[in-house]
Amino acid sequence: MRVGLTYDLRADYLAEGYGEEETAEFDSPDTIAAIEEALRARGHQVVRIGHLRALTARLVAGERWDWVFNIAEGLHGIGREAQVPALLDGYGIPYTFSDPLVMALTLDKAMAKRVVRDNGLATAPFAVIAAGEEVAGLTLPYPLFAKPLAEGTGKGISDASRIGEPARAARVIGELLARFRQPVLVETFLPGREFTTGIVGNGRAARIVATVEVKLKNAEQALAYGYDNKEHYDRFVDYVLVEDAEARAAGDLALACYRALNCRDAGRVDLRSDASGRPHFLEVNPLAGLNPVKSDLPILARLAGWSYRRLIDEIVDACLARTGLATERRKAS
Ligand SMILES: Nc1ncnc2c1ncn2[C@@H]1O[C@H](COP(=O)(O)OP(=O)(O)OP(=O)(O)O)[C@@H](O)[C@H]1O
Ligand SMILES: [Mg+2]
Repeated sequence: MRVGLTYDLRADYLAEGYGEEETAEFDSPDTIAAIEEALRARGHQVVRIGHLRALTARLVAGERWDWVFNIAEGLHGIGREAQVPALLDGYGIPYTFSDPLVMALTLDKAMAKRVVRDNGLATAPFAVIAAGEEVAGLTLPYPLFAKPLAEGTGKGISDASRIGEPARAARVIGELLARFRQPVLVETFLPGREFTTGIVGNGRAARIVATVEVKLKNAEQALAYGYDNKEHYDRFVDYVLVEDAEARAAGDLALACYRALNCRDAGRVDLRSDASGRPHFLEVNPLAGLNPVKSDLPILARLAGWSYRRLIDEIVDACLARTGLATERRKAS
């Protein structure tokens, strides 16, 4: 099969003058090369397409692919992760990972939390603050945790995100509002263990790859798995495969959230426990990073004994089964 590959190459955006932090979520050449190699190993012919605009130009020029492996995060707007999927839907081309609804919904962490909460699943109480004057109306009990509503890769997240008392709220939230020019999500601070769960598959067939505990060992950033810890994960973070009762509860919750949100093919759910050891949903990443060395999903898959190639194979198998391409292929051969 002829498979297209859509992605946002970090170097392209750095060359256009964007900063390190705003391009932190974009892909490095080794990520694209690793996916390409894993797809070739399956016998696919791989065509590198690139970002939304490159995809648009090639579609308009009449080029088509049997399906697309999509990891493009997009650049502009709350629908940025939904843009490539929506365009491919418009042309009737199947693709890996979630649909536009899920991509846009989960980028807005408060909207995702509302759906999770509506399904009776645990997530911390929260408020969305869109302007500085709304801080005075906060009624949540302290300590709180503040973060940009729709960012990833730990952007805007550090130990300073924990707000111990009302006197600090206006400054912390005000700084985030000014710096990221988007509403701030304010949640009850969860002081317990942190987990991230990798999932592959669809609907009832979706299953857990592994749940790992994220253990921080950075004395200066000891509370949150934020930007500095993510950038220097090799020094500051231990990922530990865990199977105790609390970790299993985290995994069960992650899978229930993944299904409730209708995520497809694969994803990673971040969770944290409250003071009594009860895990809560933080967020889901329907486009979990796929760098073979640095990204959390390949790291946890490796800890579970999965090679990178197996991870990509499982994602592709889930996609081909979901779209019916697997059956077509069997018929054709
Ligand atoms: N309510 C909370 N209480 C305590 N810590 C929190 C809370 N919310 C977030 N954190 C900390 O901040 C980190 C980043 O939060 P979150 O996962 O929402 O952001 P992200 O930047 O989107 O992450 P990713 O890189 O996974 O996309 C969490 O891993 C956790 O350590
Ligand atoms: Mg996260």
